[in-house]
Amino acid sequence: MENNQLRINGKRLQDSLEQMAKIGATPNGGVQRLTLSDEDKAARDLFVKWLKELDLEIVIDELGNIFGTRKGKDNTLAPVMSGSHIDSQPKGGRFDGILGVMGALEVMRTLTENSIETQHPITIVVWTNEEGTRFAPAMMCSGVWANALDKKWIYDRTDINGKRFEDELIRIGYKGDTPAKKSDIHAYYEYHIEQGPVLERENKIIGIPKGIVCLHWYDIYLEGEANQVGPTPMEGRHDALCAAAEMILKVNELPNRMGGNLVATVGEIQNEPNSRNIIPDKIHFTVDIRSWDDDLAIKAWDLVKQDFENIAHGRGCPIRIEETWRVEHSPFNQELVKNIADSAKILGYPSLHMVSGAGHDASYMNQIAPTAMIFVPSIGGRSHVEVEKTKWEDCEAGTNVLLHTILKSANG
Ligand code: GLV
Ligand code: MN
Ligand code: MN
Repeated sequence: MENNQLRINGKRLQDSLEQMAKIGATPNGGVQRLTLSDEDKAARDLFVKWLKELDLEIVIDELGNIFGTRKGKDNTLAPVMSGSHIDSQPKGGRFDGILGVMGALEVMRTLTENSIETQHPITIVVWTNEEGTRFAPAMMCSGVWANALDKKWIYDRTDINGKRFEDELIRIGYKGDTPAKKSDIHAYYEYHIEQGPVLERENKIIGIPKGIVCLHWYDIYLEGEANQVGPTPMEGRHDALCAAAEMILKVNELPNRMGGNLVATVGEIQNEPNSRNIIPDKIHFTVDIRSWDDDLAIKAWDLVKQDFENIAHGRGCPIRIEETWRVEHSPFNQELVKNIADSAKILGYPSLHMVSGAGHDASYMNQIAPTAMIFVPSIGGRSHVEVEKTKWEDCEAGTNVLLHTILKSANG
């Protein structure tokens, strides 16, 4: 068969995605596979079993990143790499991350069953902890691999119960021996759901991001004075939750204040002692700021940080601010972007150039290798929720684009 006639097996792709969706399935049709949880381990085990069936060379590094390599004709050449992540949000969807892993696996299966050899080797990858929800920040293990984040810092990150990243990695049996250290990559392609409304609105099947916005994460800690809510007069209170409430609204107003081209969100909050009849005395909340314009995002932070300090002072609630993590906006490799557009065109799928507002491991990979992404539509633009869904035929279309794009790079 001519390579350009080659198509992936949509039914097999769907089966694999449905098997993965059983691991950590939630009552309302989503999944919860938090990083380094038992569910993360179970999904990894199934993935590794599938890699073994393909006879790939499997490597697990010291951060639990999993690599499976299919030999090329010339194994001195750098591999083409593709993959994504297995972990999910709490009450997350069945497609975020895992589609890019099962898509790359389906490409490998298609090549193997058709006995297709490529010039370059091809590596499938699963990056540990893309979501950053259990252990912040996001994309941490591609970040270390790309030499942008420090391994020791990552090992010591803790979850909300004080569990250390490294201890949990050992507990699930995925701390490998191989150093998490970049090597030459000929091209990196990450296949993913869009997670927004644009493709569906524009009636397109394939999204081709020109890059990813910057992501800036901050952690805010406030101290108040706890007391009995009944006898304590309103005057003179140091209510840490009220201070946080004012701050949260400042974050929400920030995009308007900056004239757009920016989103800003408080998504997580802890309130102590969290009792209806005690004035709150300890708050932690997060701030997430994203923009294509890194400077604008930093300017926005400087403004809101000043607001936070003023509010904290006004309410007599000492504040501690941690500037936890920043990753710059990431413009993709133009040649790879064109490869994707060409593949979509040859396959007859309408496509659209766009920007990724979601973070991806492709962001760090873009710092060390030619990188691009393929998106398929999210129904209703919903993601990071249990109803997250993409049509099976769109999953198949995106995987066919991935197949032909990989083939092009692996033979070029
Ligand atoms: C990753 O899922 C992000 O965009 O936060
Ligand atoms: Mn993702
Ligand atoms: Mn996600």
